This record gives sequence, structure tokens and C-alpha cells, in this order.
Amino acid sequence: MLIDTYGRVATDLRVSLTDRCNLRCTYCMPEEGLQWLAKPDLLTDDEIVRLVGIAVTRLGVTEVRFTGGEPLLRPGLTGIVERVAALTPRPRMSLTTNGIGLARTAAALKAAGLDRVNVSLDTLRPDVFKTLTRRSRHHDVLAGLEAARSAGLTPVKVNAVLMPGLNDDEAPDLLAWAMAEGYELRFIEQMPLDAQHGWRRSGMITAGDILTSLRTRFTLAPEASGERGSAPAERWLVDGGPYRVGVIASVTRPFCAACDRTRLTADGQVRTCLFATEETDLRAALRSGTAGEGDGPGSDDEVARLWRLAMWGKKAGSGLDDPTFLQPDRPMSAIGG
Ligand code: GTP
Ligand code: 5AD
Ligand code: SF4
Repeated sequence: MLIDTYGRVATDLRVSLTDRCNLRCTYCMPEEGLQWLAKPDLLTDDEIVRLVGIAVTRLGVTEVRFTGGEPLLRPGLTGIVERVAALTPRPRMSLTTNGIGLARTAAALKAAGLDRVNVSLDTLRPDVFKTLTRRSRHHDVLAGLEAARSAGLTPVKVNAVLMPGLNDDEAPDLLAWAMAEGYELRFIEQMPLDAQHGWRRSGMITAGDILTSLRTRFTLAPEASGERGSAPAERWLVDGGPYRVGVIASVTRPFCAACDRTRLTADGQVRTCLFATEETDLRAALRSGTAGEGDGPGSDDEVARLWRLAMWGKKAGSGLDDPTFLQPDRPMSAIGG
């Protein structure tokens, strides 16, 4: 079990498969991209499957989410999904993606054992998409969403970040569209995880702003208490239900007390939190000895012990409200949202 000193148990593992991306969302990375991880530093497919296996069979993880960067850019993705689906017990498996390439891969991913996808889409307007992501791929994302729905990767969730002056007027339109298409929409408050360190609290659209904007066209009632569990999204019944819209208010209404997450970066570091400032190097442990049985270097026992120890040190919260808050060195794209 991955328990911390506050009694929280991490059952949800988020695995970043690559730090690369084919978009350049302004709230994430600069136009020129970033210094990508070198191939030898990335976990291999075998190492990823082995670590997920240790998490699932020894550490109580029941949910595995693959993230990036953009996880569809990882050539071995379908094979990894297939091998994780063969683990006993089989974890639930999901993917967070920008949707580009999903039109081609959704059916194969479903067949390999993927359960569902969350797709990022911040705007319904192709020109605004181009400004926000610096790429003209709006159509590919819409096609990816449709393919995911047809393949049964459901519920298909859509993640939207609102940026002032760009798409902050679009909340009601996005909601009307998502309801009509049958996608579960969640708005995400912009977090200080951009590579450029350009985030300012005064410049972000808050959950309060989003709800006010939605209420110009819809009635919203909070979901019954007890239905949220450890989900980061707070949900609201739209026009009496059954459709629900989510708001992930990491900044103004943090949900750290219920956090059930542990994270693995593409280069094999355990992170206890999006905002953690320390990491635990499982890649080094994996590569330090002979894999497999026993409790020596590189053994499953040793890796599990290090992972437990890392999670034991998980901090109470993100520290966003501390005057001494420091943005982590790794940007979101290298942590895996
Ligand atoms: P579901 O299981 O479908 O609810 O997934 P999810 O919402 O946890 O995953 P997704 O990858 O779609 O993330 C949506 C947003 O929530 C992203 O902006 C994430 O960075 C943010 N998020 C995910 N986990 C955490 C977390 O532990 N803390 C904070 N503050 N935000 C998180
Ligand atoms: N703040 C909030 N959400 C972000 N995402 C990427 N960067 C940020 C940020 N700085 C979102 C993406 C995607 C999800 C994994 O995280 O849009 O939907
Ligand atoms: Fe790529 Fe996601 Fe970052 Fe956008 S937010 S640039 S889609 S990693």
C-alpha cells in the first residue's frame, strides 16, 4: 500500500510516457518547445510495464492513467496498454491526450484494453485554437474525440483551460456543445506549471468566474455530497440533470486532502504531487541490478520499498498558498498533468 503520514492512500497511478508534444499550448510551453528528455533517459516499454506491475501487484494501485506530454507520440503505447491489461489484478486504464492521432488509434487502443480517454480542448473556434496551441490542428482533435466515442472509450471527458482574452467567453458554448455531443466537460483552473513561469494568480480565470459565466445560460446545482470521492473535479448538475459539468479548481479550492495519486515521470522518477519539489529515482533502482526475485538492488522488493518510502514523504498540500511557494522545476509537460 502507498500510504502517507496524513493517512491518504495512493491507488491512482499517473504514468507520463513522453515529455514531447505536438502542440504548444501557451499555458504549458514556449513556441520553440523544450529541451526534451534524451532517449536513453526514458524508461523503456519493458521498464514501464514492470513498474506498473509492481504498483498493481504489490502496492495497491487500481487505476492507471497514461499522460505526457502527448502520450500518443509514444510508439509503444498500444503494446504497453495490452501488457498492462494482462496484469492480475487488471487495473482500470485511461489516457489523457490532446486528441491528435486519436482518430487513427482509438479502436486499437480500445481493443488493447484501454477503458477511457480525457481529451484536452479549450475552444470551439479554429482560429482561437491556433492562437492557444500555436498549431492548426483543431479539426484533428474533433475527429479524435468522435473516434474515441465510437470506439467506446467512454465516458469521453473534455478538459478545457480558459485563458483571459482568448477563450474566457466560451464556457457556455463549450458546455452546450459537450452536452449535445455526449462528452463530459470539465473546466480546469490554470496552474503555475508552465515552463515559462508566466502564471499569475491575478491573471487566471477562477472556478467562481467559470460558474458565473455558465450561469448566464444554464442553471447549476451542486452534485449530491459523497459523489465526488477523490476526483479532482467538483461537479454541477446542469438544468436539473442528468448532465454534469466539472470544475477542477486546483488553485482556489484545492482538493489535496483527498488526493489518491502517485506519479511516474517518463524518466522513471516518482513524484508524490504535481507540485512536489523532490523525486525518487526508480529508474536508477531498476537499472542498478538484476531484475526479479529477491530483495537486492533492482529487485521488485527494493523498487516497491523505495516507492513506499517516497509516498510516505508526501506533503499535506500543494503549498500554492504559502508565501514561500516555489514552482517545481519540471513543467507540466514533463510531469504528466
Ligand atoms: P479522471 O479520473 O477522469 O477524473 O481524471 P483526472 O481529471 O484526474 O485526469 P486528467 O488527466 O484529465 O486531469 C485533469 C486536470 O486535473 C489536469 O489539469 C490535471 O493536471 C489536474 N490534476 C490531475 N491530478 C491532479 C492532482 O493530483 N492535483 C491537482 N492539483 N491537479 C490534478
Ligand atoms: N494549468 C492547468 N491545466 C493545465 N494543463 C496543461 N497545463 C496546465 C496548466 N498550467 C491541462 C491540459 C490537459 C491536462 C492534462 O492539463 O490542458 O487537459
Ligand atoms: Fe501539449 Fe498538453 Fe502541454 Fe498542450 S498542455 S502543449 S497538449 S503537453
